[in-house]
Amino acid sequence: MRKRVLVATGGGDCPGLNAVIRAIVLRASRERDWEVVGSINAFDGVLKEPNEILVLGEKEVAGVHIRGGTIIGTTNKGGPFAWPIKNPDGSWDTADRSDEMLRRLQYLGVDAVINIGGDGSQQISQRLFEKGCNIIGVPKTIDNDLSATDFTFGFQTAVQEATTAVDKLVTTAASHNRVFVLEVMGRYAGWIGLHSAVAGGAHVCLIPEIPYDIKKVIERIYSRFHRGRGYAIIVISEGAKPVGGDIHYAESSEVGYKNIRLGGVAAKLIVELKQAGLETDIRETVLGHLQRGGTPIAYDRILATQFGVEAFEMVLREEFGKMVAYRHPNIVAVPFAEAISHYNFVNPESDLVKAARGVGICMGD
Ligand code: F6P
Repeated sequence: MRKRVLVATGGGDCPGLNAVIRAIVLRASRERDWEVVGSINAFDGVLKEPNEILVLGEKEVAGVHIRGGTIIGTTNKGGPFAWPIKNPDGSWDTADRSDEMLRRLQYLGVDAVINIGGDGSQQISQRLFEKGCNIIGVPKTIDNDLSATDFTFGFQTAVQEATTAVDKLVTTAASHNRVFVLEVMGRYAGWIGLHSAVAGGAHVCLIPEIPYDIKKVIERIYSRFHRGRGYAIIVISEGAKPVGGDIHYAESSEVGYKNIRLGGVAAKLIVELKQAGLETDIRETVLGHLQRGGTPIAYDRILATQFGVEAFEMVLREEFGKMVAYRHPNIVAVPFAEAISHYNFVNPESDLVKAARGVGICMGD
């Protein structure tokens, strides 16, 4: 009987997921005694009755590396350790179904699991590994906030989208003598904001790692105007906050959704700027999930392909309990415990922040 590796994609989708899946399948197809199966919507496919497991062969993955999203679906709710259960009174609880999941994997003839996901998914990987699961992680997030890897795939595609948005806003802002605030994703990390501000030539860049002083922002905006003419572009990361203030977020009402929902920071900044006396015309653009959907750029396809091939080779070597990571120029394996121990934030003293300041970008301080 052939050995089976089960692949799951968990958490928010990200450009490059399909390129990882394709690479795993194509690499596995070179081993006669292995087959790849996909679990639909993270581990829900294993836990559902009847289960939702797909055999993935060369036909199923042909050409998918250029497609955004994930062909096996994903979810950022629930999971084997916190499966949502509806009570008779309509309220919701969670149940730990991890033991049952391991039994189901055994029943399905699964010898190894590759879990492609962000920090939440890799915490699940670590806990499953501690319970004896032969599991390997592949990091993914557009936020680039995982410390174990130099870059995550999907990040550069998100930066490209955000940069294109800055480029477009420049032309309309200049025509109308307006200020534009572009809100980008990234959760508590300012990577997308910083990279797109530098690449697009924004004038102000506000990121979570450097709390902003509204007066400094206004000063920089007015330096861009002369006799009422001029324009300015502000890139703000969704997790940015003013000095002494807090991030702007909403609790989610979606069942089983554990994250807080960031967003709305561009509108909040505009209110703060007006209260502080800004008189120019000002508009906001929230880029949202446009940063996450669509075709991955070449860089992300390449990184995703490297991750997929290495993840399968780790299965062959039985190197479980680890996550693949990129440490230029190598693809390495990092133990889960180390991989999820801390986040990767922008260092305000880094060379990239220095370069941003060097070309006149106000970082809000
Ligand atoms: O972590 C990726 C990310 O896109 C964040 O940048 C963003 O805050 C969040 O996910 C949005 O999550 P959702 O798709 O659940 O709204």
